[in-house]
Amino acid sequence: MTGIFYFSSTGNSLFIAERLQRKLGGCIRYIPTFDGGFADIDRMVIVSPVYSFGLPLPVVDFIRSLRVSVPLYVVLSYGGMAGNAEYFAQKLCLERGLDLRGVYSMKMPENFTLVMSPPKFYQSGILKKAPRAADAIADRIARGETRRLSAPKKDRWSGIYAKNRLNWHTLAESFSVTNDCVGCRKCERVCPVGNIAVVAGMPMFGDKCVACLGCYHRCPKNAIRYKKKKKGRYINPLVDEDRIGRDE
Ligand SMILES: Cc1cc2nc3c(=O)[nH]c(=O)nc-3n(C[C@H](O)[C@H](O)[C@H](O)COP(=O)(O)O)c2cc1C
Repeated sequence: MTGIFYFSSTGNSLFIAERLQRKLGGCIRYIPTFDGGFADIDRMVIVSPVYSFGLPLPVVDFIRSLRVSVPLYVVLSYGGMAGNAEYFAQKLCLERGLDLRGVYSMKMPENFTLVMSPPKFYQSGILKKAPRAADAIADRIARGETRRLSAPKKDRWSGIYAKNRLNWHTLAESFSVTNDCVGCRKCERVCPVGNIAVVAGMPMFGDKCVACLGCYHRCPKNAIRYKKKKKGRYINPLVDEDRIGRDE
């Protein structure tokens, strides 16, 4: 059975995972809650967003923890510029000694909206093309195609990733919560690393944030602010939001 393992805070990578499952069958597993049962898995696909031209820390940890010998594919979703994230993922998997067959990537709407958001019509255009793009990747995986990337001649990105990943755990220091918060605890539930605790009805942020922005985008009252400013929010409209973070 194909095991499709994903990380996703706003649904783009889940959308891809679900689309791949239509063609490849198998099960979908959410990386942060995966319990390690690989017994029935004979092909693996990891679906992950790109963070700062590399991968989110929970995905890096997951790949580093893998002890499997089945064919592996990685599919990345990125919002605007993936840099050499594909090569980053390839290197990580090969260093781990995994049977990596290929890394693919596809553009999805940007969810790093803390500074600026792309216009809605632009996002809609990307979403329109997404099913076909995901299906094309699924076909390549189904055919067993292999893809090996050579090292980029110029690497302008690794340094940025190395620097940013060191700061992600402090991102939540810039979050504040407005009076619109009703203490529903959704932020606590959606945080992939247990970094939020609702105390006396108010979310408290710890120091292990992985910068996924799930709490920020998915707050039903839009009560979480970054640097006290109201910025754009995003949830992939093609997935059922309740399924983000679930297995299927
Ligand atoms: C912390 C962070 C860093 C990001 N860095 C990049 C990046 O370097 N390049 C890019 O194209 N998109 C970047 N993005 C956007 C996401 O990769 C993109 O929107 C992705 O599809 C989100 O997937 P998800 O909805 O499954 O979480 C970043 C998003 C976050 C939250």
